[in-house]
Order: sequence, then C-alpha cells, then structure tokens
Amino acid sequence: MVGISFLSLVRRFSVIACAVVAMVFLVDMSIENVYAQESNLAEQTLTQECVDQPYSGTMHQSSDADLALEVEKDCLVQNGRQWYDRRCSFCHGGQGTGGKGPCLTCGKFAYSANSNMAILTTISIGITNKSVGGAMGAFGTTISGMDILSIVAYLRSEEVRRIASGEIKDPYIKQEIMVFPD
Ligand code: HEC
Repeated sequence: MVGISFLSLVRRFSVIACAVVAMVFLVDMSIENVYAQESNLAEQTLTQECVDQPYSGTMHQSSDADLALEVEKDCLVQNGRQWYDRRCSFCHGGQGTGGKGPCLTCGKFAYSANSNMAILTTISIGITNKSVGGAMGAFGTTISGMDILSIVAYLRSEEVRRIASGEIKDPYIKQEIMVFPD
C-alpha cells in the first residue's frame, strides 16, 4: 500500500516537473522571439536635425485633439516618401493612389477613422481582424515610430497637394448651411 501511493506521488511529481520544464521552455522561446523582433527594427532614418528644424508652415490635424503633422517640412515628407516607396507602394500604389490596398491620399480612411493618430496606429499594428480585411500587416516591429510618423506626414502632404490641384474633391468641405431669403 505504502509503496504504491509513493509511486503515484512520484508519477504526479514527474508530470508536474515536465509541465514546469515545458513552460520554462515556451517562455524562453517567446522571449527569444521578442528579441528577434526587436533586432528586425530598421534603424531610424529621420534625423534629429530634421526633428529640431524650426517650422512655421501649416500643420495637418483632423481635430484639435489630433496629432499635428508638419506637412510642409521637406526633410520629414521626403523621409516618409522613401519609406512609403520601399514598403507600401507595392500594395497602395505610387503616391498612395491605391492598388491592392485602398487609396491613402484621397482624404478618406475607411478602416482608420480619418485622424492622423488612428492612421499611425493602423500602420503600426496592422489590420488583423480577418472579417474587415487582414491583408494589412503590422509595421511597428520593422519601422521606427518616428519613421512611421513621417510616412503619415508624406501621405497627408500628398492629400493636401491633390486637393489643391483639383485631382481629388476636397472631402473636408462641409455642406453650407442653407440660408432662406426673407
Ligand atoms: C501586402 C500588401 C500591403 C502592404 C505592403 C501595405 N498595405 Fe496597407 N493595407 C493593405 C490592405 C489590403 C488594406 C485594407 C485592409 C485589409 O485588407 O487589411 C490596407 C489598409 C491600410 C490602411 C487603412 C486605410 C483606411 O482606409 O483606413 C492604412 C492607413 C495603410 N494600409 C497604410 C499602409 C502603409 C503606410 C504601408 C507601408 C508601411 C502599408 N499600408 C503596406 C495592404 C497592404
């Protein structure tokens, strides 16, 4: 009797020990994974000099609470354009005019409410919900935050340019309030 229960105790213990070893192994693997992802992060190309450059041009914001972007700062916009051409144009077309992925310079954003902050978030975390898409990957692990910000500045600068040239309709014009003559 004593011998048997001792054996079952040993068995139980070895099951627990195996589970602990497996858990440690899994945690260790996922930690290694995080390190691997971190090392995939490309070096930021947006220079501190560009960030610090004084700016007096217009700011792009969808509302007072939105992230304000320096859409007329050349070094910022050019940095964003280079990243866009390298990583995004393949799906979103040249100058963001759309392709396999939706147009990003038409002033309309169906997946990310039309705010700079939401667009920046979409680019960082991707669209994982398969029911609404799922083809848009997450770029936050391979492109630095400041470089993603410069991509949004580039897209908005293109949007501003396209509206000004009449290439696309101004999506921000609110219907004028009707005035009735008395
Ligand atoms: C493999 C193709 C592919 C690549 C590469 C890609 N996208 Fe997308 N993107 C998509 C698709 C497709 C959608 C539409 C949603 C979906 O199906 O997931 C999308 C959606 C988006 C949206 C949401 C648009 C909206 O209307 O709200 C933004 C913003 C966006 N992409 C930005 C980018 C940026 C910036 C890059 C480059 C860093 C990029 N994408 C690279 C395919 C791609």
